[in-house]
Amino acid sequence: MPGAIYAEGLVKVFGEVRALDGVDLDVPEGTVLGLLGPNGAGKTTTVRVLTTLVRPERGSASVAGIDVLEHPDAVRHSIGVSGQFAAVDEYLTGRENLRMVGRLYQLDGRQAKKRAGELLDRFHLADAADRPAKTYSGGMRRRLDLAAALVVSPPVMFMDEPTTGLDPRNRQQLWEVIEELVAGGTTLLLTTQYLEEADRLAHDIAVVDHGRVIARGTSDQLKARTGGERVEVVVHRREHIATAGEVLRRFGDGATAVEEHTRRITVPVSGGARLLAEIIRELDAHGVEMDDIALRRPTLDDVFIALTGHAAEAEEEREGTVP
Ligand SMILES: Nc1ncnc2c1ncn2[C@@H]1O[C@H](COP(=O)(O)OP(=O)(O)OP(=O)(O)O)[C@@H](O)[C@H]1O
Ligand SMILES: [Mg+2]
Repeated sequence: MPGAIYAEGLVKVFGEVRALDGVDLDVPEGTVLGLLGPNGAGKTTTVRVLTTLVRPERGSASVAGIDVLEHPDAVRHSIGVSGQFAAVDEYLTGRENLRMVGRLYQLDGRQAKKRAGELLDRFHLADAADRPAKTYSGGMRRRLDLAAALVVSPPVMFMDEPTTGLDPRNRQQLWEVIEELVAGGTTLLLTTQYLEEADRLAHDIAVVDHGRVIARGTSDQLKARTGGERVEVVVHRREHIATAGEVLRRFGDGATAVEEHTRRITVPVSGGARLLAEIIRELDAHGVEMDDIALRRPTLDDVFIALTGHAAEAEEEREGTVP
């Protein structure tokens, strides 16, 4: 019995680009699938196919048990999508936008008004509720858009990078909203660049690269696949990065990763606390001053690097700004 979101062998070609090259997904009802992948991996295209906006060349898909290619209208009535159908009307106020969506979904006037009020409170938009949406900041718009996707509680929701551009407080807030939704039985497919977000929200994670799912599992399973622990050292002075790197290379059993601007060096190890003590002695003997040293389990970032050979895009962008 396929899950609430199901896809098999999806292929989508745009000119020369094979955006999807055989994507398979199966999301059990009431769970969250986190779709992770670098820029251009095919995440948005997958969402667009499943939400009936784009027709694939090959493959099949169903959402809430309805065939996406055969009954796109029925699918649209069973889903909520943040960022696309719920397009915000610039000239209407936040409140008017939400009431309009309610009416579109056949709520009566009183219900639509009540629901709009609840969502404005929940997304901290009450103060700006009666201003035209065109006066909203980027983060406020994002929240209005998400609120619009939640006017009715559809059984299946798609969120494409829902927290991009939100400040930490609003991101936290949205996570709580998502957790409530899922506790209420909603099935969610969410794409994100924030590995921490997938870690917190997703029951299952699919890592996509070049239009294919290259790994799949819970965050713990993916971390276990990446293997072992990591020693992470932050040296006090830039000049010590090379020496510390040499030392770690000798103790590690994998490639060292160096982040110049944070002076952080990471290496996979097996040997735990005893090894850590040895590394500290050795760094000391070489006169390397440390700001921090720690033994830690692999993070989703490590998983990402191990699987795709590069960091998640958010990370790359941040590093890209450093000369
Ligand atoms: N309408 C289109 N026309 C041409 N190429 C497209 C179109 N939509 C997507 N692509 C290409 O398909 C590939 C996958 O794009 P997609 O938007 O699905 O990536 P993504 O994983 O969502 O990336 P990001 O993290 O940047 O949002 C990219 O190479 C992109 O340039
Ligand atoms: Mg995208």
